[in-house]
Amino acid sequence: MTSTTHDGFNLNVVEKLMSNGHNHLHVQDKYVFPPGERPDMSQVCTSYAVPVIDLKDLDGPHRVKVINDIRRACEEDGFFQIMNHGVPETVMKSMMDIAKEFFEMPVEDRVSLYSEDPKQAVRVSTSFNVTKDKFFDWRDYLRHPCHPQEEFINSWPQKPALYREVAGKYAKEIRALVLRLLAAISEALGQDSDYLNEIFGKHTQVLHINYYPACPNPDLTFGVAPHSDPRGITVLMQGDLSGLQVLKDGKWVAVEPIPNAFVVNLADQLQVISNGRFKSAEHRAVTNTSTARISIPTFYGPSFDAFIAPAASMVIEEHPALYRGYKFEEYMAAFWSQGLKGKSILDRFKIQVSP
Ligand code: OGA
Ligand code: NI
Repeated sequence: MTSTTHDGFNLNVVEKLMSNGHNHLHVQDKYVFPPGERPDMSQVCTSYAVPVIDLKDLDGPHRVKVINDIRRACEEDGFFQIMNHGVPETVMKSMMDIAKEFFEMPVEDRVSLYSEDPKQAVRVSTSFNVTKDKFFDWRDYLRHPCHPQEEFINSWPQKPALYREVAGKYAKEIRALVLRLLAAISEALGQDSDYLNEIFGKHTQVLHINYYPACPNPDLTFGVAPHSDPRGITVLMQGDLSGLQVLKDGKWVAVEPIPNAFVVNLADQLQVISNGRFKSAEHRAVTNTSTARISIPTFYGPSFDAFIAPAASMVIEEHPALYRGYKFEEYMAAFWSQGLKGKSILDRFKIQVSP
């Protein structure tokens, strides 16, 4: 027994969390993916790297060149890394350190935040969506909304003592970066720089911390199973341990960490708005035998009341609308209604063309 908690419910939660000090020591059956769905590291491509885009010139006379680089990455990969992004290294490091501290506290300090209900916006949970997952992901996570910050900060974790201050600073920096990226991506789509900002309505920003313990058998498990992110754009701090992989032309490619860079990936709403010209790339995270890995994605996108549809300028005779329009909350309800399954949610919003 590692738990000193006497309350039956909390003891139950302690046993559900990966970060309880012992669940990661052997692979329980629920974490074992069936043979055809396992990572198969021998097939991971090592000869390709996703584009690296230097944002140094984004706000200067060479903006057009950077926008062109971003357009190409959005069309061909849906994934890129960014350097000279403007977020101070000290802010990144403090966030990574406090995330580690959060998951290294005694498990009892996390159980009060535990929930299996995706509607619980501030929560600690495990796997993806345990009431729907067929096979469990090898991770715990903490997530909470961040924007507008005044509205949410009082619901964030109170431990570690500096959590709110550190995460608050990080979230503000990430939002400023995302707004610059949204302007650039709007221009890459041939729109004014405010285009995506306006479509996203009041915007949502979710800070999410993944904690992947070392795993005795990475061949059988996923840190997170293949999926695309459902919102608009994801800005991920992946720390210095590899594990993230992206599907490119049918092959899994490792996204190797670059110190102080962020990984940016387009999420489903940008594939819809661009009418399929830009891709939300399918990705996954694998586990490793030696070290716990922490990654910190920020999921940024429309507010629930925003209406999403292919941009009128992207719907032309040769490219009829691929997706129907919908309120964003309908998309998110579909996302949380099942386990992670590649890009299957996006398919549900496709316009069916009769043969
Ligand atoms: C995610 C995700 C990748 C990683 O949490 O949606 O894709 O590297 N994480 O942790
Ligand atoms: Ni993801």
